[in-house]
Amino acid sequence: MSVNKAGIENAREHFAKLLAAQAERLEKMKEPPAPVDYAGVRPLKIGVAGGDGIGPVICDQARSVLEFLLRDEVKGGGVEFVNIEGLTIENRLRAARAVPEDVLEKIKECHLILKGPTTTPRKGDAGPNIESANVVLRRELDLFANIRPVRVPEKEIDWVFFRENTEGAYLLGSAGSLIGDELAVDFTVATLPGCERIIRLAFDYAVKNSIGRVTAVTKANVVKTTDGLFLDAFYRLASGYPEIESDDWYIDIMTAKLIDPARRSQFKVFVLPNLYGDILTDEAAQIQGGVGTAGSANIGYRWAMFEAIHGSAPRMVKEGRDKYADPFSMIRAAALLLQHIGKTGKAARLDKALDICGQFERRIAVTGRPDGATAAEITAYLQEILVRDDLESRWEEFRSGRGR
Ligand code: IPM
Ligand code: MG
Repeated sequence: MSVNKAGIENAREHFAKLLAAQAERLEKMKEPPAPVDYAGVRPLKIGVAGGDGIGPVICDQARSVLEFLLRDEVKGGGVEFVNIEGLTIENRLRAARAVPEDVLEKIKECHLILKGPTTTPRKGDAGPNIESANVVLRRELDLFANIRPVRVPEKEIDWVFFRENTEGAYLLGSAGSLIGDELAVDFTVATLPGCERIIRLAFDYAVKNSIGRVTAVTKANVVKTTDGLFLDAFYRLASGYPEIESDDWYIDIMTAKLIDPARRSQFKVFVLPNLYGDILTDEAAQIQGGVGTAGSANIGYRWAMFEAIHGSAPRMVKEGRDKYADPFSMIRAAALLLQHIGKTGKAARLDKALDICGQFERRIAVTGRPDGATAAEITAYLQEILVRDDLESRWEEFRSGRGR
């Protein structure tokens, strides 16, 4: 069916409703709540939701590492782990909701969430074609900053990506218009406060960590309106941080620069709209050893959620290989959680143990198959490194290229 008047009229009405909702969201964003001061919260509730596919296996491992590192806090009543059931694809399809109402309520009762990957049905799959649980959680909890570190100390790569997490091509990704069956339109949204809050966070992070450069990545030469707003906001805010060098690149050339050994280690902090952040962080993670090695923090004013950067790998489960999944992505996320609540010493130690384990010693093979180690074995090896007295000196050896 081609486009007719009624189709255009329906789309126009649909767009009017979307715009009204976005205008309302924009107004709310202008009065952000004060961020939670974790020092004053007791007990700090960490909700654990295993998710689907390889999720429960790798999430369990991350939880055990966290429980070990926070054992004193748990004993003293300062931290409590809470099981969040019901974020499985079966339950979500049954409820025909990406995140069922009761599950969302339980999540909101926690301060922090450790979340395994969740499966999103593809167009044409059986059952209700529910939205991505990730997208819904990020939107419902207003987790506007998706922070994804990638580090390869040996190659002097130490990147932190600040991906805008609640707008761009994702916010209305399930609300596009198909007019007739030949004309499809999607919506990409950017708001000034939405751009500014993520950009400011990136600059503040750079200041706090004495990092001299922040790089914006857009495609503002082509996607002029939304990316244009982002880039303008970037340079306007950059002028308030004169001590930090700011520059911008287009997403296409940036994908090339990440694999350019002559340039890549000069980049430090990146800030970028949602879709580009999604794509570029998978590429970056591959340089670190694969998406299975990278974790991410989703930060908002009231809640924060920590997860792997990858999906639920249903193929691994189908082939009976889930127990061989690499838990490092979720354990990196656990390190980000520790950092977020101010346990910076423990977070740094865990990151170093992960570096030694996955990039330096590599005493066990991680293949995702029966010829390699299981997730539990990989974690046991990590735990052993974590408590070693020579952790710091081993890491220094690794970083400086000695001991190779
Ligand atoms: C990620 C994932 C998600 C995203 C999917 C599962 C919705 O790819 O966290 O990067 O695109 O954000
Ligand atoms: Mg992704």
